[in-house]
Amino acid sequence: MTLNWDFMVISSSSKHAIVIFAALILLSNRANCDDSLHANKGNTCLESERRALIAIKSDMYDPGEWLSSWTGYDCCKWRGVACDNVSGYVTRLDLQYPWVESIGASKVNPSLFELKHLRYLDLSFNNFSYAHVPHMIASLVHLEYLNLSNAFFYGLIPPVLGNLSHIQHLDLGNCYTYTYPSTLFSNNLSWLSNLNSLQYLDMSCVNLSKATNWLHQINLIPTLQVLLLGDANLPPVPPSLPTINLTSLTMLDLSWNEWNISASMLRWLSHASNLEHLDLSGCWVFEAEALSVALGALHNLRKLVLVDTQIAGEFSTILKNVSRMLQYLVLQWNFLLSGEISTILSILPRRLEFLALDGNNIYGRIPEMLGNYTSLRHLSMYYTRITGDIPRTIGKLIHLECLDLSQNDITGEMPSNVGNLPNLEELYLIETNITGSIPESLGNVSSLKYLGLFGNKITGEIPKTLGSLHNMSGLDLHANLLTGQIPTTIGRISNLRYLDVSENHLTGEIPTTIGRISNLRHLDVSENHLTGEIPKTFSRLCNLWMLDLSLNNIIGELADLLDGLSNCPQGAVLSSLSIGDNNMSGSIPSNLGLLAHLQELDLSSNSLQGNMTEAHFSQLTSLSYLNISFNSLNVILPNDWHPPFHAYEIDMSSCHLGGHFRAMFQDYTNSNPCHDNNLQCAMAPMGSYRPKDKILITAKGSTYEYIRILSLVTSIDLSHNNLSGEIPNELMMLRDLHFLSLSNNHLTGTIPENIAFLTELFSLDLSMNNLTGTIPSNLSALNFLSHLNLSFNNLSGRIPTGNQFLTFDDPAIYAGNKDLCGWPLPECPSDEAQRGPLHAKDDDDGNGSKLEKVLDYAFIAMGFIIGFWAYWGAMIMKKSIRIALFQMADRIYDWIYVQLAVKFGR
Ligand SMILES: *[C@@H]1O[C@H](CO)[C@@H](O)[C@H](O)[C@H]1NC(C)=O
Ligand SMILES: *[C@@H]1O[C@H](CO)[C@@H](O)[C@H](O)[C@H]1NC(C)=O
Ligand SMILES: *[C@@H]1O[C@H](CO)[C@@H](O)[C@H](O)[C@H]1NC(C)=O
Ligand SMILES: *[C@@H]1O[C@H](CO)[C@@H](O)[C@H](O)[C@H]1NC(C)=O
Ligand SMILES: *[C@@H]1O[C@H](CO)[C@@H](O)[C@H](O)[C@H]1NC(C)=O
Ligand SMILES: *[C@@H]1O[C@H](CO)[C@@H](O)[C@H](O)[C@H]1NC(C)=O
Ligand SMILES: *[C@@H]1O[C@H](CO)[C@@H](O)[C@H](O)[C@H]1NC(C)=O
Ligand SMILES: *[C@@H]1O[C@H](CO)[C@@H](O)[C@H](O)[C@H]1NC(C)=O
Repeated sequence: MTLNWDFMVISSSSKHAIVIFAALILLSNRANCDDSLHANKGNTCLESERRALIAIKSDMYDPGEWLSSWTGYDCCKWRGVACDNVSGYVTRLDLQYPWVESIGASKVNPSLFELKHLRYLDLSFNNFSYAHVPHMIASLVHLEYLNLSNAFFYGLIPPVLGNLSHIQHLDLGNCYTYTYPSTLFSNNLSWLSNLNSLQYLDMSCVNLSKATNWLHQINLIPTLQVLLLGDANLPPVPPSLPTINLTSLTMLDLSWNEWNISASMLRWLSHASNLEHLDLSGCWVFEAEALSVALGALHNLRKLVLVDTQIAGEFSTILKNVSRMLQYLVLQWNFLLSGEISTILSILPRRLEFLALDGNNIYGRIPEMLGNYTSLRHLSMYYTRITGDIPRTIGKLIHLECLDLSQNDITGEMPSNVGNLPNLEELYLIETNITGSIPESLGNVSSLKYLGLFGNKITGEIPKTLGSLHNMSGLDLHANLLTGQIPTTIGRISNLRYLDVSENHLTGEIPTTIGRISNLRHLDVSENHLTGEIPKTFSRLCNLWMLDLSLNNIIGELADLLDGLSNCPQGAVLSSLSIGDNNMSGSIPSNLGLLAHLQELDLSSNSLQGNMTEAHFSQLTSLSYLNISFNSLNVILPNDWHPPFHAYEIDMSSCHLGGHFRAMFQDYTNSNPCHDNNLQCAMAPMGSYRPKDKILITAKGSTYEYIRILSLVTSIDLSHNNLSGEIPNELMMLRDLHFLSLSNNHLTGTIPENIAFLTELFSLDLSMNNLTGTIPSNLSALNFLSHLNLSFNNLSGRIPTGNQFLTFDDPAIYAGNKDLCGWPLPECPSDEAQRGPLHAKDDDDGNGSKLEKVLDYAFIAMGFIIGFWAYWGAMIMKKSIRIALFQMADRIYDWIYVQLAVKFGR
């Protein structure tokens, strides 16, 4: 199955993602599985046990529902309780909590241990807030089933659990609540060997790193059927192993232990002849041949999972003897395994139902023979090297539910008989080289829930027939070459939550019918040639959290949309609204300020006019990105205005920021400990501050520590303003600053010496000011600096030499400073006799200066490489943290604003 829809790059290699996903599945199932526990009829429970249960309840977190049936005398009828139908003793207690992210603390009440006849005890998914597993559990000697999984227990698993000689199912798995180092651990598993009836043992995500003899100890439990030891830090096994005793074993999970599975371990395994499920993901298995032999011996294997291993070799080697019973094969992200797809298929059994080969080095064309695997329900091969067309025989895979061939060099058209796959729920052909149009026949696949075709070369119109796909939840066609109108039939897909047709050549108006899709959460039609107004019906899209209409030719006003959304019964949930680069007109209604969840707002480059006042921002407390540039807006704010939001990027380029705009930079000194850092806190009048062109401050990260807060800002562009005075010293405390432009202002004074503190700086532009003095020589210590512009100031003296300055060979960056001298400008007068080391043209003394020259070039190259990667590295980083930034913006950003603005304002 494919894990995510919103961000299509799927990294199954992350075990944590899998864990989270599993948690979600669990969440969705939990609702159904609690009413099976009915007590016996007839017998009422013993009074002493009833009182014990009441005591237990009093220590359990239960905000109402779960234990509300625990009233009255017959405790045997209480939810999760069951009694012996002859003696009346409580034999079963199920206190598992429905999985939720945050849950209050519970305690194990000692009365639990009075229920001496318990055979079944489940405390899973509660929050025992890092208490130890109570030793007294070992006194419940009749227990056959004990489930303490994911219950926030911590510390040593008490070895006295070895007294539970009747236990059959023991679940201590800890993967959902694992928080290193507060986890469960066991240093020696010898206590397990007393458990003569044990069939099921789950110790996943329990720290067993000190249990060196684990394999020998587990080998003493021949009754074991299920053994789950994933992510348990298992230590490597010694070379000599006992013969396997675990002949009943049907399921074995040793995944994510990051060890090398030795040949002897594989030999041990190969005798587990009843094994049906095997997971060795994340183990660094090296010996392909030995693995092949072991797999060949496991005649009953039905499910094999090998994700993210480091096995090197051919798929055909590993799989050549694999069991003919195999139904479920997951071999993902094994970068060292390769093979031709037709060879791989030819050795796999026909009964295969689930095949995932994503992220491997698989090549070749998909063979016609694929159509013989008629049992397939899941076929995914994204991010491999397969090429060529999708064979028409795909139409024979009538059980197929999920097909994912994304990120391959698949060419040709999508076969129209995909429309014959009656069970298809998910179809992803993302970022391939598919051409042609979307087959009309897809409209027959009524089971389809997700259709992801983005990033291809698909032409033609969006078929009207898609409107009959009533189960469809996500439709993503963006970045193709689609033409024509968005079909009105789309409005019939009432379950649609995610619709993205951006970056195509669509024309016409946005269908009003889309406004009927009340479930819609994400609508992106940006970068097309759409015309007309925003349909009035959109005002009913109360579940919409993302609306992007930017880069079209949309006209009209925002009023209807905002009126509607701000009147939604539960309030609007819209968190991202982009209408940038259209022809919208009129003023911005003040009920914009009611969109309390808005995080991104982009109204740039339209013909909006009128005033923006306090009311427009009144409840936008979550706003982190604001772009109202290139309209005809007046921003008018009262003097005592405190912005309710903490944006990481604000662009008001070309707005009229007259009047009391300075309010934006209001004095926050009372709420900030600026005196601790000796910063200038006094406010100055702001009259002279009228940014004309661009204010763009990009801030990154957040924390509550003051000095780190100052390091949040990574990018400052205050060019083309009327800033005067000196460059403020506080700027030099912004240690994460990558980009600083103050060009085209009226700054005076010198370039501060301590600019060398800005060690991350890669771009510095101070051009077109009135700066005087010399260029500080320690500027050359800024190793990442790859772009510098100091032109048109009144700087004087020698240009620093060495390090990063070797890369600045363009005289233009110093132009217009008539008193500057030294390479790459003409020599300084005092140098004529001495000759600086950099003057390549005057080397007339043989080898010595040749060496210097080579070294110089080496430095230049290094400087360039470091600078280049610093820049792109930062850009890539920035993209990936953008989302996180939404949540992290902090009130204190504004304060940084204040400091800068105030200093500049003077
Ligand atoms: C008691 O329970 C057992 C199984 O748990 C069942 O076979 C038996 O019929 C029950 N007896 C009565 C009297 O309900
Ligand atoms: C568990 O309870 C503790 C103590 O009340 C609390 O600090 C912690 O956040 C809770 N854990 C979860 C996951 O809710
Ligand atoms: C223990 O409980 C969890 C969740 O409550 C469940 O997923 C798991 O299967 C249970 N373990 C056993 C052995 O039944
Ligand atoms: C197999 O299990 C039995 C029972 O626990 C034990 O006596 C025997 O020593 C085990 N054999 C090996 C080779 O570990
Ligand atoms: C497998 O598929 C190929 C091509 O579609 C076909 O020629 C061949 O007969 C099929 N083999 C079997 C055993 O069905
Ligand atoms: C699509 O084809 C182009 C040109 O042949 C190639 O560069 C590109 O990598 C292909 N796309 C994919 C996803 O393979
Ligand atoms: C905008 O603000 C200015 C200055 O406060 C005021 O004179 C003007 O009437 C306002 N315009 C509108 C449309 O409210
Ligand atoms: C620099 O200062 C001089 C004199 O103080 C002034 O004439 C000139 O306009 C200033 N240049 C700029 C770009 O502000």
